[in-house]
Amino acid sequence: MVAAGRGERLGEGRPKAFVDIGGRPLVWHALRAASAAARVTHVVVVAPDGMEDDPALAGAAAVVPGGSTRQHSVANGLAALPADTEAVLVHDAARCLAPPELFDAVAADVLAGHDAVIPGLPVVDTLKVVDAAGMVTATPDRAALRAVQTPQGFGRGVLERAHAAAVERGDVDAPDDGVLVERLGLAVHVVAGHADAFKVTRPQDLLLASAVLARRAA
Ligand code: CTP
Ligand code: MG
Repeated sequence: MVAAGRGERLGEGRPKAFVDIGGRPLVWHALRAASAAARVTHVVVVAPDGMEDDPALAGAAAVVPGGSTRQHSVANGLAALPADTEAVLVHDAARCLAPPELFDAVAADVLAGHDAVIPGLPVVDTLKVVDAAGMVTATPDRAALRAVQTPQGFGRGVLERAHAAAVERGDVDAPDDGVLVERLGLAVHVVAGHADAFKVTRPQDLLLASAVLARRAA
């Protein structure tokens, strides 16, 4: 679980994973969901420098320091997995309300034999490809597009190879882990995402997250 980002776009003046919704930090909610998943046995949290002992991380099996990019943070977490780990889920703490069922569905698909499994939802906006001058150069068919989420699941060896190859190529800031497996030339399977697995990125996302929590409590 990567939680070491700065949260610049949220603009709360502290690492995003430690911003509260419903009186608890995002990473606390994310840890609770991961721990409630039947197939999740060992959670490694990648935390910002100096936050490793924060009580919000008490449910983690291990806490390791983050890197300068998300990709580096994932690599730090991978290096801390127990030796006998066969499958790994990579999750953004910022997707703090992704439900346990989503972790289990992704894990089940990895255990069924897929090298890489990512949850995705149909996109609601029409997307345009634009050039540097702001001119539209293409309109991709929306039916073929998915907005992807985490947790993303992998065979442990596959993900380690994907990260090692990225380092060799000089990639330092991949947008997600799925793309690193694509670049190995391996297949990536998309399963149904979940509306609650949205990423808290901008201030209005905190409003939505609070509303989802309140609805769950009602
Ligand atoms: N992340 C991380 N280490 C980094 C950068 C990001 O562990 N160096 C984590 C974040 O904590 C988050 C996830 O990766 O859970 C997705 O990143 P993002 O939404 O971009 O979070 P931030 O980088 O914190 O936000 P921003 O880009 O607005 O600064
Ligand atoms: Mg970021």
